[in-house]
Amino acid sequence: MNTIPGGAAPESTGPGGAATAGGGAVDALNVVQAFVSHRRPLPVLDDVSLSVTPGRFVSLVGPSGCGKSTLLRLIAGLDRPIRGEIFADGYRVDGPDPSRGVVFQDPTLLPWLTVEQNIGLGPQVRGVADRPDERERVDEMIEMVDLGGFRRAYPSELSGGMAQRASLARALVNRPRILLLDEPLGKLDALTRSTLQHDIARLWEARGFTGIMVTHDVEEALLLSDRVVVFSPRPARVIADLPVALERPRARDDPGFRALRRTILGLLGQ
Ligand SMILES: Nc1ncnc2c1ncn2[C@@H]1O[C@H](COP(=O)(O)OP(=O)(O)O)[C@@H](O)[C@H]1O
Ligand SMILES: [Mg+2]
Repeated sequence: MNTIPGGAAPESTGPGGAATAGGGAVDALNVVQAFVSHRRPLPVLDDVSLSVTPGRFVSLVGPSGCGKSTLLRLIAGLDRPIRGEIFADGYRVDGPDPSRGVVFQDPTLLPWLTVEQNIGLGPQVRGVADRPDERERVDEMIEMVDLGGFRRAYPSELSGGMAQRASLARALVNRPRILLLDEPLGKLDALTRSTLQHDIARLWEARGFTGIMVTHDVEEALLLSDRVVVFSPRPARVIADLPVALERPRARDDPGFRALRRTILGLLGQ
């Protein structure tokens, strides 16, 4: 039995009518995680449950070190929880899969490959790189993240923002149903960050994947998300799960936006 009890396909349409027929449901049920640190157990996730409907965008915010990346890695299948279960589209997550793309804070591009080769890595690994539709897909992704003039460039020749756009394209080329973003813009300057926030919003609206993003930037969470989940200090528990029922594109000076921002900062003790 490796399917979620009761099934996992609540809604099938994403915001803006984006097609989500391909699924993208995430269900984390009563997840407990702990590590060993200095020979002592370090509890990190304390009975965390989180369900995300296909095609939605959810941000996870919480104090530094509370366990956000730990949860994202579990959903990615990079680690296993000590208790509880994680399901993607009703199937238990038991390892990484191209249907769950991951983008980390540091772009993890391979330095000896060009932008085009890095973005084409997924199809290469899946053994389909020679198929015309896959080649087209790589081209489409390069254009979509606006790196057409840099396809033969190496990662060392890219700015931080360009490298992060290449990382996004590399994840999206696999047509993921779920995109996991771990502080993807955390190291970028304010201007680049703002541009990339719009890029992520645009890609998400066009592609209809489920987005789960860890961020420490409450405004970023509110600009992009349908929901913001707030965690306690470690060991992380969900202390609030707030719907963001504001029209898109979001405006930072909208009274509803500012009220939610204040609520979340209050929950974070800021
Ligand atoms: N593999 C690991 N081994 C030991 N401790 C870890 C490991 N991964 C994370 N931790 C610890 O777990 C806690 C939560 O980490 P993390 O999930 O990265 O926090 P966040 O992303 O919320 O800042 C931190 O105290 C971190 O040091
Ligand atoms: Mg983290």
